[in-house]
Amino acid sequence: MYVRAHALFEGFMAGLAAQPQASLVHSLSEPPVLADFLAELDPLLPLDWSGQSFFGLPALREQVLGRTRLAAACSTDDVLITAGAAEANFLAISQLVQPGDEMIVDVPGWPQPLVLGEAIGAVVKHLQRHETQGWKFDLDQLAELVNERTRLIFLCNPNNPTGQVVSDAELRRVVDIAQRVGAYVLCDEVYAGLEWDGQAIPRVAGYYDRGISTGSVSKALGLQGLRTGWMICRDPQLLFDAMVLREDTSEIMNIMGEAIAEIALREERYAAAMACARAAGRRNLATLDAWIDARAELSWVRPAAGLIGFCRLDTAITADTLAAKLLAEPYRTFVMPGSAYGFSQHLRLGVGGGADSGMELALQRLGACLDALSR
Ligand SMILES: Cc1ncc(COP(=O)(O)O)c(C=O)c1O
Repeated sequence: MYVRAHALFEGFMAGLAAQPQASLVHSLSEPPVLADFLAELDPLLPLDWSGQSFFGLPALREQVLGRTRLAAACSTDDVLITAGAAEANFLAISQLVQPGDEMIVDVPGWPQPLVLGEAIGAVVKHLQRHETQGWKFDLDQLAELVNERTRLIFLCNPNNPTGQVVSDAELRRVVDIAQRVGAYVLCDEVYAGLEWDGQAIPRVAGYYDRGISTGSVSKALGLQGLRTGWMICRDPQLLFDAMVLREDTSEIMNIMGEAIAEIALREERYAAAMACARAAGRRNLATLDAWIDARAELSWVRPAAGLIGFCRLDTAITADTLAAKLLAEPYRTFVMPGSAYGFSQHLRLGVGGGADSGMELALQRLGACLDALSR
């Protein structure tokens, strides 16, 4: 299998290489530092593999079920600890989808299933999200796309880049449609935890025995560098197959990542961290929302969850041209053009990073660049 770089990754590489002075790309909460965990870490923790389970530290799997509110529907045997949600997606897709199988992926959405599906030689069908419908997809279109060859439906919920969520009723319909043909439903839930109307997203692993919930401590908790995430599914064969593939890639988990993630997910600590992350996220999002409102050439469907949204650019120039001008002197500011998702007139804007994200400077420069272009 040969995997090509996707446009979003190329965009991040180019943006970083330009050494920007400001950016609007952050999708995670302000990251904690190691010192925040030292008091609770065991200094005598052996830095060998824990030797406890190939599926990940049992205590961590327990915390994952608690924080995802899946403890009633799933057991720790249904949880595999992985190197982030990205590895969980990779393992599930690689083991489920074979050449010629069909898979359905929401668009715009996370590019990983698109590139992996293509590399595998699967038939990848797009489930279109519509801006005019608040970036929702049409369940009737999903029903039409599904057939006996459909192996997997992949949804990014909350969605990257639009920040929109699939409701409980919608997820039930998705599961009904999948169940008719025995297709798996994988929901990448990596942006869960920062739902702005207070209603937590429905977790697909609790709805369907072929429902796969992937997630991690990367986004709402800002702990991306730990590379610690999970796959939750009530199909023991899939979890076993995923664990076997991992044995042939990175073999076992990163014990420091697991140990710190287990602490970060303890109930009280998690509640406190999420209260801070929500307050900072709300503030930054409100700033961006007001700023977009005041610009005639910009509009968006405000994200319902998470720290990124997809903003429409109503100008004669494309988002690619704007992003390139903005990255160069004198602005030196990084925004991700929507072409990374196949949309030429949108910008993916991120307000992560907390109070010190520097977003005010980035907004000033984006505004100045837009003004200069309209002259
Ligand atoms: C939708 C989505 N899934 C997965 C990932 C990767 O997350 P992790 O750090 O948990 O591997 C990202 C990161 O940007 C993402 O946006």
